[in-house]
Amino acid sequence: MTNIAVLASGRGSNFSAIIRAVKRGLIKANLLLLVCDNPKAGAIEKAKRSGIRIALVERKDFSSKIEFEKKIIQHLEECNIELIVMAGFMRLLSPDFVSRYKGRILNIHPALLPSFKGVEGIKDAFNCGVKVTGVTVHFVDEEMDHGPIILQKAVKIEGSDTLESLEEKIHKTEHLLYPQAIKLFIEGRLKIEERKVKVSNPGG
Ligand code: GAR
Repeated sequence: MTNIAVLASGRGSNFSAIIRAVKRGLIKANLLLLVCDNPKAGAIEKAKRSGIRIALVERKDFSSKIEFEKKIIQHLEECNIELIVMAGFMRLLSPDFVSRYKGRILNIHPALLPSFKGVEGIKDAFNCGVKVTGVTVHFVDEEMDHGPIILQKAVKIEGSDTLESLEEKIHKTEHLLYPQAIKLFIEGRLKIEERKVKVSNPGG
């Protein structure tokens, strides 16, 4: 079974959704490690409750980004991690890190990429007045919120929506979409061809 690590910096609601999907057997993998760069992140408590190993690696404890990432890689190697799932990890990975794990790092973004990249994807879409936004799961490359797109799901913004109600709809959608994308990866059904992701049928 595939060994998975989740990288998170915050609340950890996507991490929770992934934990649930593993427990229910939707994702047949070993969720072995949480890498977290923020000691106050809710994700840490969630890992504790599920008995998942926690690697707290804070950027301030390292003299350079290279050293910081070296430490993360050390934890990933100790656990023989094969798939890295970024779930609200608010740091751009270096090109060296990305190439080391090429095609094995996933990210989720709360908007329909390539629109509304960055840390405020939901708010930016809401303030822009678009009528449709959504969620994207993609392979990670060297750029922020960029790389071959695996799954996207649209979410309508109704006239009655507030930023809070939109956030709720987006997060609900994320919690369904991310486990589905991880499942496709684990089943070997994702192939990157000319920077586009082809999804094959089960067994095919
Ligand atoms: C999620 O909405 C995720 O899409 C977003 O961070 C949030 C983390 O929430 N990621 C980005 O904006 C990446 N650019 P969570 O900690 O509750 O999973």
